Amino acid sequence: MEKFILALDQGTTSSRAILFNKKGAIVSVAQKEFKQIFPRPGWVEHDPMEIWSSQASVAAQVVTQSGLSGNDVAAMGITNQRETCVVWNKNTGKPVYNAIVWQDKRTLEYCEALKEEGKEKIIREKTGLVIDSYFSATKVKWILENVDGAREMAAKGELAMGTIDSWLIWNFTKRQLHITDVTNASRTMLYNIHTLGWDNELLEIFDIPESMLPEVKDSSEVYGYLETAMFSAKIPIAGIAGDQMAALFGQLCLEKGMVKNTYGTGCFMLMNIGEKPVLSENNLLTSVAWKIGDEVKYALEGSIFVGGAVVQWLRDGLGVIKRSEDVEKLAESIESTEGVYFVPSFAGLGAPHWNQKAKGTIFGLTRGSTDAHIARASLEAIAYQSMDIMKSMEADAGLKISELRVDGGATVNNLLMQFQSDVLNTTTVRPEITETTALGAAYLAGLAVGFWKNIEELIDIWKEERKFEPQENREKIETGIKGWYKAVNAVEYWTR
Ligand code: G3P
Repeated sequence: MEKFILALDQGTTSSRAILFNKKGAIVSVAQKEFKQIFPRPGWVEHDPMEIWSSQASVAAQVVTQSGLSGNDVAAMGITNQRETCVVWNKNTGKPVYNAIVWQDKRTLEYCEALKEEGKEKIIREKTGLVIDSYFSATKVKWILENVDGAREMAAKGELAMGTIDSWLIWNFTKRQLHITDVTNASRTMLYNIHTLGWDNELLEIFDIPESMLPEVKDSSEVYGYLETAMFSAKIPIAGIAGDQMAALFGQLCLEKGMVKNTYGTGCFMLMNIGEKPVLSENNLLTSVAWKIGDEVKYALEGSIFVGGAVVQWLRDGLGVIKRSEDVEKLAESIESTEGVYFVPSFAGLGAPHWNQKAKGTIFGLTRGSTDAHIARASLEAIAYQSMDIMKSMEADAGLKISELRVDGGATVNNLLMQFQSDVLNTTTVRPEITETTALGAAYLAGLAVGFWKNIEELIDIWKEERKFEPQENREKIETGIKGWYKAVNAVEYWTR
Protein backbone atom coordinates (compact mmCIF):
# COMPACT_ATOMS: atom_id res chain seq x y z
CA MET A 1 0.00 0.00 0.00
CA GLU A 2 1.23 3.48 -0.88
CA LYS A 3 2.67 5.42 2.04
CA PHE A 4 3.35 9.13 2.58
CA ILE A 5 5.65 11.42 4.51
CA LEU A 6 4.07 14.00 6.79
CA ALA A 7 6.07 17.24 6.96
CA LEU A 8 5.23 19.81 9.62
CA ASP A 9 6.33 23.36 8.87
CA GLN A 10 5.91 25.52 11.95
CA GLY A 11 6.53 29.03 10.55
CA THR A 12 6.43 32.55 11.92
CA THR A 13 2.85 33.29 10.92
CA SER A 14 1.27 29.89 10.36
CA SER A 15 1.48 26.21 11.18
CA ARG A 16 1.37 24.01 8.11
CA ALA A 17 1.29 20.30 7.42
CA ILE A 18 2.01 18.79 4.03
CA LEU A 19 1.79 15.18 2.85
CA PHE A 20 4.32 14.13 0.23
CA ASN A 21 4.23 10.99 -1.89
CA LYS A 22 7.13 8.86 -3.04
CA LYS A 23 7.67 11.11 -6.09
CA GLY A 24 8.18 14.07 -3.75
CA ALA A 25 4.89 15.61 -4.95
CA ILE A 26 2.43 17.37 -2.66
CA VAL A 27 -0.65 15.29 -1.95
CA SER A 28 -2.38 17.56 0.50
CA VAL A 29 -1.81 20.74 2.56
CA ALA A 30 -3.42 22.08 5.73
CA GLN A 31 -2.59 25.43 7.27
CA LYS A 32 -3.63 27.51 10.24
CA GLU A 33 -2.55 31.05 11.05
CA PHE A 34 -2.03 31.99 14.66
CA LYS A 35 -1.88 35.15 16.70
CA GLN A 36 1.08 37.51 16.55
CA ILE A 37 1.45 39.22 19.92
CA PHE A 38 3.09 42.68 20.06
CA PRO A 39 3.13 43.68 23.76
CA ARG A 40 5.35 46.71 23.12
CA PRO A 41 7.00 48.31 20.08
CA GLY A 42 9.74 45.95 18.90
CA TRP A 43 8.49 43.00 20.96
CA VAL A 44 7.07 39.95 19.15
CA GLU A 45 5.64 36.92 20.96
CA HIS A 46 3.66 33.76 20.17
CA ASP A 47 1.52 31.71 22.52
CA PRO A 48 3.35 28.34 22.74
CA MET A 49 0.07 26.52 23.45
CA GLU A 50 -1.42 27.98 20.26
CA ILE A 51 1.69 26.97 18.31
CA TRP A 52 1.30 23.45 19.61
CA SER A 53 -2.49 23.19 19.10
CA SER A 54 -2.42 24.73 15.62
CA GLN A 55 0.41 22.43 14.55
CA ALA A 56 -1.22 19.31 16.00
CA SER A 57 -4.57 20.15 14.42
CA VAL A 58 -3.20 20.71 10.89
CA ALA A 59 -1.19 17.50 11.18
CA ALA A 60 -4.36 15.55 11.93
CA GLN A 61 -6.35 17.48 9.33
CA VAL A 62 -3.99 16.91 6.42
CA VAL A 63 -4.14 13.16 6.93
CA THR A 64 -7.90 12.87 7.41
CA GLN A 65 -8.81 15.29 4.60
CA SER A 66 -6.90 13.00 2.24
CA GLY A 67 -9.00 10.03 3.36
CA LEU A 68 -5.93 8.49 5.01
CA SER A 69 -5.04 7.34 8.52
CA GLY A 70 -1.88 7.27 10.64
CA ASN A 71 -1.08 3.84 9.17
CA ASP A 72 -0.51 5.49 5.79
CA VAL A 73 2.21 7.76 7.18
CA ALA A 74 5.72 6.31 6.94
CA ALA A 75 7.36 9.06 9.02
CA MET A 76 7.04 12.62 10.17
CA GLY A 77 9.59 15.40 9.66
CA ILE A 78 9.57 18.72 11.48
CA THR A 79 10.88 22.06 10.29
CA ASN A 80 10.40 25.29 12.15
CA GLN A 81 10.91 29.02 12.47
CA ARG A 82 14.38 29.18 13.99
CA GLU A 83 15.72 31.10 17.03
CA THR A 84 12.22 31.62 18.50
CA CYS A 85 12.35 29.99 21.91
CA VAL A 86 10.13 28.67 24.65
CA VAL A 87 10.94 28.11 28.32
CA TRP A 88 8.68 25.64 30.09
CA ASN A 89 8.27 23.84 33.38
CA LYS A 90 9.43 20.22 33.03
CA ASN A 91 6.96 19.02 35.68
CA THR A 92 3.78 20.73 34.52
CA GLY A 93 4.72 20.96 30.83
CA LYS A 94 3.46 24.57 30.85
CA PRO A 95 5.43 27.47 29.37
CA VAL A 96 6.52 30.07 31.92
CA TYR A 97 6.23 32.85 29.34
CA ASN A 98 5.19 33.33 25.71
CA ALA A 99 7.61 32.23 22.99
CA ILE A 100 9.92 35.14 22.19
CA VAL A 101 10.07 35.34 18.41
CA TRP A 102 13.21 35.71 16.30
CA GLN A 103 12.07 39.19 15.22
CA ASP A 104 11.85 40.44 18.82
CA LYS A 105 14.17 43.32 19.67
CA ARG A 106 13.80 43.56 23.47
CA THR A 107 17.37 42.45 24.12
CA LEU A 108 18.92 44.99 21.77
CA GLU A 109 20.56 47.00 24.56
CA TYR A 110 21.95 43.93 26.22
CA CYS A 111 23.45 42.93 22.87
CA GLU A 112 25.09 46.35 22.57
CA ALA A 113 26.50 45.90 26.10
CA LEU A 114 27.92 42.51 25.16
CA LYS A 115 29.69 44.11 22.22
CA GLU A 116 31.09 46.80 24.49
CA GLU A 117 32.37 44.11 26.85
CA GLY A 118 34.33 42.76 23.88
CA LYS A 119 32.43 39.48 23.58
CA GLU A 120 32.03 39.66 19.80
CA LYS A 121 35.15 37.70 18.90
CA ILE A 122 34.59 34.73 21.17
CA ILE A 123 30.90 34.44 20.29
CA ARG A 124 31.62 34.71 16.59
CA GLU A 125 34.44 32.17 16.70
CA LYS A 126 32.46 29.59 18.64
CA THR A 127 28.98 30.01 17.16
CA GLY A 128 29.55 31.49 13.69
CA LEU A 129 26.99 34.17 14.60
CA VAL A 130 27.15 37.91 15.17
CA ILE A 131 25.84 39.39 18.42
CA ASP A 132 22.23 40.29 17.69
CA SER A 133 18.89 40.07 19.48
CA TYR A 134 17.82 37.74 16.61
CA PHE A 135 19.32 34.62 18.26
CA SER A 136 17.84 32.61 21.16
CA ALA A 137 20.41 33.06 23.97
CA THR A 138 19.54 36.64 24.97
CA LYS A 139 15.82 35.81 24.79
CA VAL A 140 16.18 32.90 27.24
CA LYS A 141 18.24 35.08 29.54
CA TRP A 142 15.51 37.74 29.41
CA ILE A 143 12.89 35.18 30.48
CA LEU A 144 15.04 33.95 33.36
CA GLU A 145 15.54 37.52 34.56
CA ASN A 146 12.06 38.88 34.06
CA VAL A 147 9.61 36.10 34.87
CA ASP A 148 8.85 35.76 38.58
CA GLY A 149 10.59 32.75 40.09
CA ALA A 150 12.10 31.59 36.78
CA ARG A 151 15.72 31.99 37.82
CA GLU A 152 15.13 29.94 41.00
CA MET A 153 13.23 27.19 39.17
CA ALA A 154 15.97 27.02 36.54
CA ALA A 155 18.61 26.68 39.27
CA LYS A 156 16.66 23.73 40.70
CA GLY A 157 16.62 22.07 37.26
CA GLU A 158 12.86 22.48 36.86
CA LEU A 159 12.87 24.44 33.61
CA ALA A 160 13.51 23.39 30.03
CA MET A 161 14.25 25.60 27.06
CA GLY A 162 13.93 24.83 23.42
CA THR A 163 13.46 26.19 19.96
CA ILE A 164 10.09 25.40 18.39
CA ASP A 165 11.15 21.93 17.19
CA SER A 166 11.98 20.96 20.80
CA TRP A 167 8.70 22.34 22.08
CA LEU A 168 6.67 20.42 19.47
CA ILE A 169 8.51 17.14 19.97
CA TRP A 170 8.20 17.42 23.75
CA ASN A 171 4.45 17.64 23.24
CA PHE A 172 4.16 15.10 20.41
CA THR A 173 6.00 12.51 22.51
CA LYS A 174 3.97 13.28 25.65
CA ARG A 175 6.97 14.85 27.40
CA GLN A 176 9.29 11.89 26.79
CA LEU A 177 11.79 13.62 24.52
CA HIS A 178 13.56 16.90 25.10
CA ILE A 179 15.66 17.13 21.96
CA THR A 180 16.64 19.44 19.12
CA ASP A 181 18.83 19.01 16.04
CA VAL A 182 22.20 20.48 15.11
CA THR A 183 20.72 23.10 12.77
CA ASN A 184 18.40 24.59 15.36
CA ALA A 185 21.06 24.36 18.06
CA SER A 186 23.46 26.32 15.87
CA ARG A 187 21.10 29.33 15.93
CA THR A 188 20.83 29.62 19.72
CA MET A 189 24.23 31.29 20.27
CA LEU A 190 24.97 28.67 22.92
CA TYR A 191 26.20 25.96 20.59
CA ASN A 192 29.77 25.45 19.45
CA ILE A 193 29.66 24.69 15.73
CA HIS A 194 33.21 23.27 15.76
CA THR A 195 32.87 20.79 18.61
CA LEU A 196 29.14 20.23 17.94
CA GLY A 197 28.18 20.62 21.57
CA TRP A 198 26.67 23.14 24.00
CA ASP A 199 29.48 25.45 25.07
CA ASN A 200 30.10 25.98 28.79
CA GLU A 201 31.79 29.34 28.34
CA LEU A 202 28.80 30.65 26.38
CA LEU A 203 26.38 29.24 28.95
CA GLU A 204 28.31 31.18 31.57
CA ILE A 205 28.26 34.42 29.57
CA PHE A 206 24.48 34.21 29.22
CA ASP A 207 24.00 32.69 32.68
CA ILE A 208 21.87 29.80 31.39
CA PRO A 209 21.98 26.49 33.35
CA GLU A 210 22.92 23.47 31.26
CA SER A 211 20.04 21.50 32.77
CA MET A 212 17.62 23.58 30.67
CA LEU A 213 19.06 22.50 27.34
CA PRO A 214 17.75 19.82 24.98
CA GLU A 215 19.86 16.93 23.77
CA VAL A 216 21.21 17.68 20.28
CA LYS A 217 20.53 15.05 17.59
CA ASP A 218 21.24 14.57 13.88
CA SER A 219 18.88 16.05 11.29
CA SER A 220 17.80 12.67 9.94
CA GLU A 221 17.25 9.74 12.33
CA VAL A 222 14.38 8.09 14.17
CA TYR A 223 14.21 10.10 17.41
CA GLY A 224 11.04 8.52 18.80
CA TYR A 225 7.36 8.09 18.02
CA LEU A 226 4.24 10.18 18.01
CA GLU A 227 2.56 9.37 21.32
CA THR A 228 -0.48 11.64 21.18
CA ALA A 229 -3.98 10.32 20.55
CA MET A 230 -4.29 12.10 17.20
CA PHE A 231 -3.44 8.93 15.25
CA SER A 232 -3.87 5.33 16.34
CA ALA A 233 -0.58 4.38 14.61
CA LYS A 234 2.82 5.12 16.18
CA ILE A 235 4.42 7.33 13.57
CA PRO A 236 8.23 7.70 13.70
CA ILE A 237 9.50 11.25 14.12
CA ALA A 238 12.51 11.02 11.84
CA GLY A 239 13.67 14.44 10.61
CA ILE A 240 14.31 17.85 12.19
CA ALA A 241 15.82 20.96 10.66
CA GLY A 242 15.44 24.71 11.06
CA ASP A 243 13.35 25.95 8.15
CA GLN A 244 16.14 27.59 6.15
CA MET A 245 18.43 24.59 6.41
CA ALA A 246 15.50 22.34 5.50
CA ALA A 247 14.98 24.51 2.41
CA LEU A 248 18.67 24.18 1.47
CA PHE A 249 18.26 20.42 1.68
CA GLY A 250 14.89 20.51 -0.09
CA GLN A 251 16.52 22.44 -2.95
CA LEU A 252 19.12 19.67 -3.07
CA CYS A 253 21.94 22.17 -2.67
CA LEU A 254 24.10 19.24 -1.69
CA GLU A 255 27.38 20.33 -3.21
CA LYS A 256 29.75 22.99 -1.93
CA GLY A 257 28.99 26.35 -3.60
CA MET A 258 25.27 25.69 -4.27
CA VAL A 259 22.98 28.50 -3.12
CA LYS A 260 19.26 28.91 -2.42
CA ASN A 261 17.14 31.90 -1.47
CA THR A 262 13.79 31.53 0.29
CA TYR A 263 11.36 34.43 -0.13
CA GLY A 264 9.10 34.30 2.92
CA THR A 265 8.35 36.96 5.56
CA GLY A 266 12.07 37.59 5.39
CA CYS A 267 14.53 36.28 2.82
CA PHE A 268 17.16 33.76 3.72
CA MET A 269 20.01 32.99 1.38
CA LEU A 270 22.17 29.99 2.25
CA MET A 271 25.22 28.58 0.56
CA ASN A 272 26.50 25.07 1.14
CA ILE A 273 30.14 25.52 2.20
CA GLY A 274 30.98 21.86 2.68
CA GLU A 275 32.46 20.14 5.68
CA LYS A 276 34.39 22.99 7.31
CA PRO A 277 32.78 25.76 9.34
CA VAL A 278 34.54 28.65 7.60
CA LEU A 279 33.76 32.02 9.18
CA SER A 280 32.61 34.85 6.94
CA GLU A 281 34.75 37.93 6.46
CA ASN A 282 31.77 39.79 5.06
CA ASN A 283 29.27 39.75 7.92
CA LEU A 284 27.45 36.58 7.03
CA LEU A 285 26.64 33.81 9.49
CA THR A 286 28.03 30.29 9.58
CA SER A 287 25.65 27.58 10.77
CA VAL A 288 25.31 23.83 10.57
CA ALA A 289 23.39 22.95 7.38
CA TRP A 290 22.64 19.38 8.44
CA LYS A 291 24.16 16.31 10.03
CA ILE A 292 23.29 12.93 8.60
CA GLY A 293 25.20 10.07 10.19
CA ASP A 294 28.83 11.11 10.31
CA GLU A 295 28.48 13.71 7.59
CA VAL A 296 28.21 17.33 8.74
CA LYS A 297 27.65 20.14 6.25
CA TYR A 298 27.90 23.83 7.01
CA ALA A 299 26.24 26.83 5.40
CA LEU A 300 26.94 30.51 5.04
CA GLU A 301 23.79 32.50 5.56
CA GLY A 302 22.55 35.99 4.95
CA SER A 303 19.23 36.85 6.56
CA ILE A 304 17.00 39.70 5.41
CA PHE A 305 14.41 40.55 8.02
CA VAL A 306 11.83 42.08 5.68
CA GLY A 307 11.31 40.34 2.35
CA GLY A 308 7.76 39.28 1.48
CA ALA A 309 6.64 41.20 4.58
CA VAL A 310 7.03 44.41 2.59
CA VAL A 311 4.20 43.22 0.34
CA GLN A 312 2.06 42.52 3.41
CA TRP A 313 2.77 46.08 4.50
CA LEU A 314 1.63 47.41 1.11
CA ARG A 315 -1.58 45.44 1.70
CA ASP A 316 -2.22 45.98 5.42
CA GLY A 317 -0.27 49.14 6.29
CA LEU A 318 -0.61 51.24 3.17
CA GLY A 319 -3.74 49.60 1.75
CA VAL A 320 -2.64 49.98 -1.90
CA ILE A 321 -3.40 46.34 -2.79
CA LYS A 322 -6.15 44.00 -1.62
CA ARG A 323 -4.30 40.72 -1.95
CA SER A 324 -0.54 40.08 -1.90
CA GLU A 325 -0.63 38.66 -5.42
CA ASP A 326 -1.98 42.01 -6.74
CA VAL A 327 1.44 43.56 -6.24
CA GLU A 328 2.81 42.16 -9.51
CA LYS A 329 0.09 43.81 -11.61
CA LEU A 330 0.49 47.14 -9.81
CA ALA A 331 4.27 47.08 -10.19
CA GLU A 332 3.97 46.09 -13.84
CA SER A 333 1.68 49.00 -14.57
CA ILE A 334 4.80 51.21 -14.87
CA GLU A 335 8.09 50.48 -16.58
CA SER A 336 10.42 51.77 -13.90
CA THR A 337 10.39 53.17 -10.38
CA GLU A 338 11.71 56.44 -11.87
CA GLY A 339 14.27 56.79 -9.12
CA VAL A 340 12.10 55.73 -6.19
CA TYR A 341 13.91 53.44 -3.72
CA PHE A 342 12.42 51.74 -0.71
CA VAL A 343 14.66 50.37 2.04
CA PRO A 344 12.11 48.31 4.01
CA SER A 345 14.17 48.02 7.18
CA PHE A 346 11.13 47.92 9.49
CA ALA A 347 12.97 45.55 11.82
CA GLY A 348 16.51 46.86 11.42
CA LEU A 349 18.85 45.79 8.64
CA GLY A 350 20.04 42.19 8.71
CA ALA A 351 23.02 40.82 6.81
CA PRO A 352 25.41 42.16 5.72
CA HIS A 353 24.70 45.50 7.49
CA TRP A 354 23.53 44.29 10.94
CA ASN A 355 22.09 47.64 11.91
CA GLN A 356 19.50 46.91 14.61
CA LYS A 357 18.25 50.49 14.69
CA ALA A 358 17.55 51.05 10.98
CA LYS A 359 13.99 52.10 10.08
CA GLY A 360 12.13 51.72 6.79
CA THR A 361 12.67 54.67 4.43
CA ILE A 362 11.43 55.67 0.96
CA PHE A 363 13.66 57.86 -1.22
CA GLY A 364 13.26 59.78 -4.47
CA LEU A 365 9.55 60.69 -4.36
CA THR A 366 8.35 63.30 -6.84
CA ARG A 367 4.94 64.84 -7.48
CA GLY A 368 4.42 62.13 -10.09
CA SER A 369 5.13 59.18 -7.77
CA THR A 370 2.23 56.81 -7.20
CA ASP A 371 1.42 53.62 -5.35
CA ALA A 372 2.76 51.76 -8.41
CA HIS A 373 6.22 53.27 -7.94
CA ILE A 374 6.23 52.26 -4.28
CA ALA A 375 5.02 48.75 -5.17
CA ARG A 376 7.70 48.33 -7.82
CA ALA A 377 10.37 49.75 -5.48
CA SER A 378 9.22 47.24 -2.82
CA LEU A 379 9.78 44.29 -5.13
CA GLU A 380 13.08 45.67 -6.29
CA ALA A 381 14.14 46.09 -2.65
CA ILE A 382 13.64 42.36 -2.06
CA ALA A 383 15.95 41.64 -5.01
CA TYR A 384 18.53 44.29 -4.08
CA GLN A 385 18.76 43.04 -0.49
CA SER A 386 19.31 39.51 -1.81
CA MET A 387 22.00 40.88 -4.11
CA ASP A 388 23.81 42.47 -1.14
CA ILE A 389 24.00 39.05 0.46
CA MET A 390 25.08 37.24 -2.67
CA LYS A 391 27.89 39.75 -3.16
CA SER A 392 29.14 38.99 0.36
CA MET A 393 28.91 35.26 -0.32
CA GLU A 394 30.87 35.60 -3.52
CA ALA A 395 33.53 37.61 -1.71
CA ASP A 396 33.76 34.97 1.04
CA ALA A 397 33.86 32.06 -1.38
CA GLY A 398 36.11 33.84 -3.89
CA LEU A 399 33.92 32.81 -6.82
CA LYS A 400 31.03 34.02 -8.97
CA ILE A 401 27.82 32.17 -8.16
CA SER A 402 26.32 30.93 -11.41
CA GLU A 403 22.92 29.73 -10.27
CA LEU A 404 20.46 30.63 -7.54
CA ARG A 405 17.69 28.21 -6.58
CA VAL A 406 14.62 30.05 -5.31
CA ASP A 407 11.60 29.05 -3.26
CA GLY A 408 8.92 30.44 -0.96
CA GLY A 409 5.64 32.27 -1.56
CA ALA A 410 6.97 35.31 -3.42
CA THR A 411 8.67 33.24 -6.12
CA VAL A 412 5.36 33.02 -8.04
CA ASN A 413 6.02 36.68 -8.87
CA ASN A 414 7.67 36.53 -12.29
CA LEU A 415 8.52 40.23 -12.31
CA LEU A 416 10.46 39.80 -9.07
CA MET A 417 12.22 36.65 -10.29
CA GLN A 418 13.25 38.28 -13.57
CA PHE A 419 14.52 41.39 -11.75
CA GLN A 420 16.37 39.14 -9.30
CA SER A 421 18.14 37.41 -12.14
CA ASP A 422 18.95 40.79 -13.74
CA VAL A 423 20.47 42.40 -10.62
CA LEU A 424 22.44 39.27 -9.77
CA ASN A 425 23.45 38.71 -13.37
CA THR A 426 22.87 35.05 -12.54
CA THR A 427 20.48 32.30 -13.60
CA THR A 428 17.58 31.93 -11.20
CA VAL A 429 15.96 28.50 -10.99
CA ARG A 430 12.44 27.95 -9.68
CA PRO A 431 11.67 24.31 -8.83
CA GLU A 432 8.33 22.58 -9.38
CA ILE A 433 7.80 22.32 -5.63
CA THR A 434 8.36 25.73 -4.05
CA GLU A 435 7.27 24.41 -0.62
CA THR A 436 10.92 23.55 -0.27
CA THR A 437 11.08 23.98 3.48
CA ALA A 438 8.53 21.24 4.07
CA LEU A 439 10.02 19.18 1.24
CA GLY A 440 13.43 19.28 2.97
CA ALA A 441 11.91 18.06 6.24
CA ALA A 442 10.12 15.31 4.31
CA TYR A 443 13.36 14.28 2.56
CA LEU A 444 15.22 14.12 5.92
CA ALA A 445 12.50 12.01 7.54
CA GLY A 446 12.02 9.82 4.47
CA LEU A 447 15.73 9.04 4.23
CA ALA A 448 15.86 8.03 7.90
CA VAL A 449 13.16 5.38 7.51
CA GLY A 450 14.19 4.12 4.05
CA PHE A 451 11.11 5.66 2.33
CA TRP A 452 13.71 7.07 -0.05
CA LYS A 453 16.76 4.85 -0.21
CA ASN A 454 19.40 7.45 -0.86
CA ILE A 455 20.19 10.94 -2.10
CA GLU A 456 20.38 9.70 -5.72
CA GLU A 457 16.72 8.79 -5.53
CA LEU A 458 15.96 12.37 -4.42
CA ILE A 459 18.04 13.83 -7.25
CA ASP A 460 15.94 11.78 -9.68
CA ILE A 461 12.61 13.14 -8.46
CA TRP A 462 13.59 16.83 -7.99
CA LYS A 463 12.36 18.94 -10.94
CA GLU A 464 12.94 22.50 -12.03
CA GLU A 465 9.91 24.46 -13.24
CA ARG A 466 11.40 27.61 -14.82
CA LYS A 467 14.73 29.31 -15.32
CA PHE A 468 15.10 33.10 -15.42
CA GLU A 469 18.15 34.41 -17.29
CA PRO A 470 19.51 37.98 -17.04
CA GLN A 471 17.84 40.01 -19.83
CA GLU A 472 17.93 43.69 -18.97
CA ASN A 473 20.51 46.14 -20.28
CA ARG A 474 23.49 45.87 -17.91
CA GLU A 475 24.19 49.58 -17.77
CA LYS A 476 20.64 50.32 -16.69
CA ILE A 477 20.88 47.65 -13.99
CA GLU A 478 24.23 49.00 -12.73
CA THR A 479 22.75 52.51 -12.44
CA GLY A 480 19.86 51.07 -10.45
CA ILE A 481 22.28 49.24 -8.13
CA LYS A 482 24.24 52.45 -7.46
CA GLY A 483 21.00 54.15 -6.41
CA TRP A 484 20.25 51.28 -4.03
CA TYR A 485 23.64 51.62 -2.33
CA LYS A 486 23.05 55.35 -1.89
CA ALA A 487 19.69 54.62 -0.29
CA VAL A 488 21.06 51.99 2.11
CA ASN A 489 23.98 54.25 3.07
CA ALA A 490 21.56 57.07 3.79
CA VAL A 491 19.50 54.79 6.07
CA GLU A 492 22.66 53.76 7.91
CA TYR A 493 23.77 57.38 8.26
CA TRP A 494 20.40 58.48 9.61
CA THR A 495 20.13 55.75 12.24
CA ARG A 496 23.64 55.61 13.62
O1 G3P B 1 15.39 32.76 11.14
C1 G3P B 1 14.00 32.92 11.09
C2 G3P B 1 13.38 31.98 10.09
O2 G3P B 1 13.70 30.67 10.38
C3 G3P B 1 11.90 32.24 9.98
O3 G3P B 1 11.40 31.75 8.80
O4 G3P B 1 9.71 31.27 7.11
O5 G3P B 1 9.02 31.38 9.48
O6 G3P B 1 9.63 33.45 8.28
P1 G3P B 1 9.85 31.97 8.40
